[in-house]
Amino acid sequence: MFGWFKCRQPPSRWSLDKPLFAWNRQDDFSIRDACSGVAVFGATGSGKTSGSGRLLATSYLKAGFGFLVLCTKSDERDLWLRYCQETGRGEDVVVFSPENRYRFNALDHECRHGGRGGGLTPNIVNLIEEVLEMANGREKGAGGKGEDAYWLTARKQLLWNAVDLLVLSDDVISIPNVYQVIASAPHSPQQLGSRDWQNSSYCFHRMLVMLHRGQEGQIDERQRFDAAKVAHFFQREHLQLAEKTRSIVDSTFCAAASILDRGVLRELFSTTSNVSPSDVLNGKIVVVDLPVENFGVAGLFAGILWKKSVQLSLLRRAVGPGTRPVSIFADEAQNFITGADASFLSTCRSKLAANVYLSQNINNYIAALGAGDKATAEVESVLGNAGTLIAHANSCQRTGEYMSERIGRERQFLSNFSQSGGANDWYSAMGGEGEQNETAGFSETWEYQLQPSFYGTLRTGGQRHNRMVDAIVYTTGHEFKSSRRNWMTTTLRQAD
Ligand SMILES: Nc1ncnc2c1ncn2[C@@H]1O[C@H](COP(=O)(O)OP(=O)(O)OP(=O)(O)O)[C@@H](O)[C@H]1O
Ligand SMILES: [Mg+2]
Repeated sequence: MFGWFKCRQPPSRWSLDKPLFAWNRQDDFSIRDACSGVAVFGATGSGKTSGSGRLLATSYLKAGFGFLVLCTKSDERDLWLRYCQETGRGEDVVVFSPENRYRFNALDHECRHGGRGGGLTPNIVNLIEEVLEMANGREKGAGGKGEDAYWLTARKQLLWNAVDLLVLSDDVISIPNVYQVIASAPHSPQQLGSRDWQNSSYCFHRMLVMLHRGQEGQIDERQRFDAAKVAHFFQREHLQLAEKTRSIVDSTFCAAASILDRGVLRELFSTTSNVSPSDVLNGKIVVVDLPVENFGVAGLFAGILWKKSVQLSLLRRAVGPGTRPVSIFADEAQNFITGADASFLSTCRSKLAANVYLSQNINNYIAALGAGDKATAEVESVLGNAGTLIAHANSCQRTGEYMSERIGRERQFLSNFSQSGGANDWYSAMGGEGEQNETAGFSETWEYQLQPSFYGTLRTGGQRHNRMVDAIVYTTGHEFKSSRRNWMTTTLRQAD
């Protein structure tokens, strides 16, 4: 009799079909939809934050998701503290800011987290590269063009060897330490042989430790091979670069690293770790309270370091029936987008990553990635991976066209009627007799289901609209029951 109870599995708290909220009487938004990603558009004051942003945030919080919240505006921390109180998640909040006790050494965490694929130099290099890309390359659109590609490859090689040296000599992996290795690497064979230089060079000291560990059998066969490569790089390859080339390669790293190597950022990201992406995966709500509005570029660095670290942890995790969804939530997301997001978003679906990106329009994203064709392609790839698009009121032509293209065209029939005749047409029209040709019929055309100009007519909340915020919701891959299309209009109510 009890066999039935034994066999029956309790439904998982986070089963994909579980509804998080209802758009209307017929259509739900499920955990599956959340984990397909959401991008929200809307002009300033259109109701993104107080309409769809609030709805998504509070329903994900109620469902117990872990969160990484990236802040641009100074009031976002308080907004999230309020959301957490309202949804019974107050205990789970971690406010990561200079005023609090939390610290996160992102590089060291990546090196030591122990999971499969963790601790590998490429992950650490990619983490640093993503921060550098944001710092150095945005305005130039660096990354794909001729001469830029050379410097990027050379910088990557330098970083790779510096990180490997720290790993193989068992030192802490941090931006300041990577910086020290690069800044103290030898510039000439003479310098390499000089006692004074050897005594003062951090790079040389780490090479000695690496050698010693090899001799003592503290590193395995594969690492011994890597150690030989590292030694060759710093004693030959890097040293033989023309001085001008070398200074460009070094400076593309050092300029950005010097920002991370001082003040608030050094304290927060290069000392110890008492909070990490593992906490986010286990249900904490980490609010990165260095709003870009107040902290400028330091806020961008902080957000991107956290975002990349959580992304890497998500990609590594094993997913089973009881795995908790995690949301990377970014209002004003143009500040935190990077070219590498596209590849993460295309692979994160199965990892229960419920990303929410809000921004005014597509141009914001493209400008943030450096404009041009490469940036446009990256943005289209990022947005193409969002399973749900929500569009609030907007007059941006490009965003309207993008939405209308995603929604698609339909066959429409235009009726036409024409009349022609001789000089006595006016007479025919008055009911008289005369020669007259009339043609009538239909022509077929493929038109947008929703014209780009339609978005300008949506309500934007506030007292004027009785707190009602309108939106168009588009989804990839299924039909809404209420509209029998892959898009529908909906109205959200702002908080009282
Ligand atoms: N709870 C509320 N009740 C009434 N009006 C509100 C409420 N919250 C926001 N508003 C108003 O509704 C409008 C939309 O606000 P909201 O902050 O959501 O816009 P937004 O799209 O996020 O804008 P931005 O791009 O500037 O961040 C604004 O006019 C705002 O003043
Ligand atoms: Mg807003």
